[in-house]
This record gives sequence, C-alpha cells and structure tokens, in this order.
Amino acid sequence: VGAGAALAATTTAVSLIALTDDKNKASAASVALTIPDLLTATTTNGVDVYTLDMQTGTSEVLSGVSSTTAGFNQSFLGPTIKVTNGDSVQMNVTNNLGADTTVHWHGAHVPAKVDGGPQVAFANGETWSPAFTVNQEACTLWYHPHALGTTAEQVSKGLAGMLIVDDDSDASAALPSDYGVDDIPIILQCLAVDNAGDIKYNLTGYQSSTLNFPFLVNGVNADSTTFTFAATKSRLRLRFLNASLSDIITIQRNDGSTLTQIATEQAYLTKATEVDSIRLVAGSRAEIVIDAADAATLDAVITTGWVRGGSGTYSFLTISDSSSGTPADLPSTLNTITRYDTSAFTARTIKLTQSGLNMGINGVVGTTMAAMKAAEISTTVGAKEIWTIANSTQLEHSFHLHDVPFQVISTSGTAASGVDLGWKDTVEVIGGGTVVIAMEFTDYSDDTYMYMLHCHLAQHEDEGMMAALMVTAS
Ligand code: C2O
Ligand code: CU
Repeated sequence: VGAGAALAATTTAVSLIALTDDKNKASAASVALTIPDLLTATTTNGVDVYTLDMQTGTSEVLSGVSSTTAGFNQSFLGPTIKVTNGDSVQMNVTNNLGADTTVHWHGAHVPAKVDGGPQVAFANGETWSPAFTVNQEACTLWYHPHALGTTAEQVSKGLAGMLIVDDDSDASAALPSDYGVDDIPIILQCLAVDNAGDIKYNLTGYQSSTLNFPFLVNGVNADSTTFTFAATKSRLRLRFLNASLSDIITIQRNDGSTLTQIATEQAYLTKATEVDSIRLVAGSRAEIVIDAADAATLDAVITTGWVRGGSGTYSFLTISDSSSGTPADLPSTLNTITRYDTSAFTARTIKLTQSGLNMGINGVVGTTMAAMKAAEISTTVGAKEIWTIANSTQLEHSFHLHDVPFQVISTSGTAASGVDLGWKDTVEVIGGGTVVIAMEFTDYSDDTYMYMLHCHLAQHEDEGMMAALMVTAS
C-alpha cells in the first residue's frame, strides 16, 4: 500500500521505511500509565469556569530528542475537562501560541458561535470565553484547535485534550466514573517527527526517508514502553480517543479475546457489546469496560496511516489487578436508542472530492471562509435529514459533522448493525465508498455563525475538505 497515496494522489509514496518502532513486548520497559490532570473549575454564580492557556513548550515525543510542542496549561496535550449534562460552563481560553487559533469542542452540541470553528479565530494574546449549557447524554468528547489551514500543525504539536460529559442516567450511576481511578482516559496519537525533533504535518515532510513515527499514549512515547495500570477497583472503564492526524488505530486484546464496548462517540450503546476489536479513525472515540481480574494487555494496531508508510502493533497497556471483590453485573440496558425512520427525511448528497492537491466537499475547496460560505449547506432547526456521504476519491476519509449526533444507516449499501447502531459524530468513509447517515438539527440556530462538516484527517481539512453548515431558525 502506498502510504503517500492515502494522503494525496499526486504525492509519491513515502519511501519504504523500516518500522523500527514495532513493539517487542518481551523487551519493552514497563512504566505506569500517565493520566492527564483533571481540570478544576472555579464556580461563579453557578457557572463553572475552566481556564485553558494555550502555550508552546518542548517535549520528548521522540525518546532522547527535544521537540517544539504545544499544549493547554502544559507543553503537550491538555487536562481532561469533565462536565455534567445541564451544567453552565465557561471556557476562558488564552492564546499564547504566537499564531491565530480556535478551540473546538469536538462532538459538543452547542450554539455555533461557541463551537470554535475557524470563523471565531482569536489572535495571540487574546482570551476567548465561550459560555454554554452542557446539553447532551454522557459521552467522551475532545477539544482541539480548528483554525483555518493550521489545524494539522496545531493538533500534531499537541493541542488536544479530552472532554468528558457525565449525566444522571442509570447507566452512568452503574458504570465506573472515578476519574483516574476506574475511569481512565486513553489518548492515542501517531506523529511524524524528523531526526531533529520537528513534528511534521504537511505534505513535504512525508517525502523524507528520515522521519520517525512515534506512537504516544497520553502524551508519552510508547515505542519501547508498555504502560501498566494497577487497578484498585474491580472494574475499569477506558475511554479511547484517536487524536492522530490521519492514522487508523485498532484496539484489541493481546490474548485474542473480546472487548466489552459500552459507548460510541456520542452516547452509550443500548447494551454492553462484545467486539473483537475497535477501529478508531482520526477524531473518533469509544469506551469499554474491563474487569481488573482479566489482567488484560491491550494492543493498538496502526493501519493504513499515511503518516507511517506502513503499519505497526503496540502492546501499549497492561492492566494488573490490585483490587478486591468482584464487580456487580453490568446493567442489562445502558441506553435507549430510537433508530430513525428516514422515509420522510430530507435527502442530500455530500461528495468528498479531490482535484490534484485540492481536497473538497461537493467540488468546493474549503480553504477560505468565503468559499465555504458560498457553498454552505443550509438547513433549519427541526430539519430531519439523510445524507449520503459519497467518497469520490480513492483515499480514506474520516467524516465529521459538528452540532448534532448522527446515526449510521448504511455503509456502502450494507445496513448498520452491532455497535454501528450507536450515536456517532465521526465516521470512516473508505476510498470510493459511501456512508449514509441521518440526523436531526435541534435547539440552536444562528444567521451568522456556522458549524462545519469536514474530513478529520487534519491535512485534508486544511487542504479544503471542509464545508460550512448553517442552521437557521425554521
Ligand atoms: Cu474534531 Cu471540526 O473537528
Ligand atoms: Cu480526508
């Protein structure tokens, strides 16, 4: 597989690079899993205020080499923010990056003005303070920059963090929720870094045969490390986020047995579901529960990534059991998901397009606000729509819609089943494939501010595979 071809047809394949970073479990060092800090809010007049400082720094994303990186409140990645459905929150985000930026609450159902798309960029030295009410079911979201043309650069430098939404459902009460104790964030990233430590995110960087492809778990290089987690509770909940620019990461158990998935990106599944593996395209998330007594080792298989020029397998996490007692049975029902009857839904086709190096949506190259505005998709609050995402390119894409969750109806003609019946906000669309999704636009309208829909391979987004979505009053 030509890895470069998965980025752009006009790019020659990355020269074949020996994967020196594949894990040899036997010789790997064991280090305790790093858990991102949980950000504490200051509550004023009932509003939980979170403070994020976007800053640059240095980190060893590649062992023994210092890289210029960026993060929220630290030099790489950011703290976890945990909110509850119904909370009034305000994010005070200060830009100390030396460049324009935005922060998008990926997967959050919020008004367009506070969604953090490219329209609301703010400059170095400025503070952006969006306020909103959390208005969705329990789920695992994330936050990252979304400025026009610089998303790949800023995210790959480390600007990403997890955003957890809790709620008062029976499932949330029954599932592990003690952050860092039995509720564990796992941020997975594949980076491309040259020998001098420069993190690469654009086309030219991938021509080099001198690149390294570190795999990071919660911001720590995992190339020669298996992280360990000594469980003190008898059941753990793991929240996976693929924060890579492009790579597909498949999570599986090293012993070949199944994983118990409880949530897709936007909500709990109807019930805990045994799966052989979980395939995460760039930007997507999933949650599992695992019994401490299982003493599982989890593998991450990285496939078809244009960054790597190959694949790699990492035994990245070993859970050991320091708990006592046995976990209670999981609730037989976690959620009620009413599948859409789409017969009366408004149909649209969203084409993922490419001409030369230009990526597009419906043929429009979304590299300027004007182009995206001129070709915007417009709808109204209350609209129920069924979209055929038609990938007319030969490349893999990761389709992401802001604002509302969607249901996958079918994938290249095959009706959704199993965990694909769960609520999502990001979905894989293979080269030449189609995915049919359905959604209902609810709550928020705006005549000025836009949501976005785009490919979450950040390089493709920056190259124009992004369009505006205007949701106006009905
Ligand atoms: Cu995670 Cu529009 O992005
Ligand atoms: Cu893409």
